[in-house]
Amino acid sequence: MEKKITIAIDGFSSSGKSTMAKKLAKTIGYAYIDTGAMYRAVTLYCLRNNLIDGDAVNVAELEKCLPDICITFGVNPETGASETYLNGECVEREIREMRVSGKVSFVAAIPAVRHALVAQQQRMGAEKGIVMDGRDIGTVVFPDAEMKVYVDASAETRAQRRFDELRAKGNTEVTYEEVLRNVQERDRIDQTRAESPLRKADDALVLDNSHMTIAEQDEWLLSVFRRLTAN
Ligand code: DC
Repeated sequence: MEKKITIAIDGFSSSGKSTMAKKLAKTIGYAYIDTGAMYRAVTLYCLRNNLIDGDAVNVAELEKCLPDICITFGVNPETGASETYLNGECVEREIREMRVSGKVSFVAAIPAVRHALVAQQQRMGAEKGIVMDGRDIGTVVFPDAEMKVYVDASAETRAQRRFDELRAKGNTEVTYEEVLRNVQERDRIDQTRAESPLRKADDALVLDNSHMTIAEQDEWLLSVFRRLTAN
């Protein structure tokens, strides 16, 4: 049987990582974990429990609550898509809303949150045969991953993609400018935070998909995977 490897896909928000990571996992029969969804679920927990005031997170209180926050993934039997659960409740839709996107970078910058989620991610990937996407997968979570990809695309391209996605989901209130500002602000916070900032692992392959179709990206990823797992 083919040896299973660990695949780390990192990059900026809305770079299309999740779509390509999910597709790759399905094609090669690997498990897929969207680590951004985990930070979003913790953020939703904070919002629901009034632990965020403006840009400030009540870290002391959140640290006390962390053991009570259980994040799991389940497959929707109708769509076959992986969905995020927070303490047993499906929150897949809610964690994608702008109110969560606007606060998630502050929550993701908290060391105690990162330590708890990184430990959980390492347990999920302990058996290999996993595609994990995020910001620090190739640098912190699985520095020994056999396949590391760093996805890049301009902020404008990424904002347009997220805007189209939100519109397609029926959100008619949000403007492109608002989404662009959110993307730029999150880029800044993700790259400058003290705790595991977004950066390319030295041994990661760069994929700039600003001018690539989804089919071209999928083909590129699959060919890298085949090359790395060929005997
Ligand atoms: O990929 P996304 O936009 O759903 O990620 C949401 C936020 O979580 C983003 O602002 C960065 C943060 N994040 C992180 O810090 N580390 C990860 N491994 C994944 C996401």
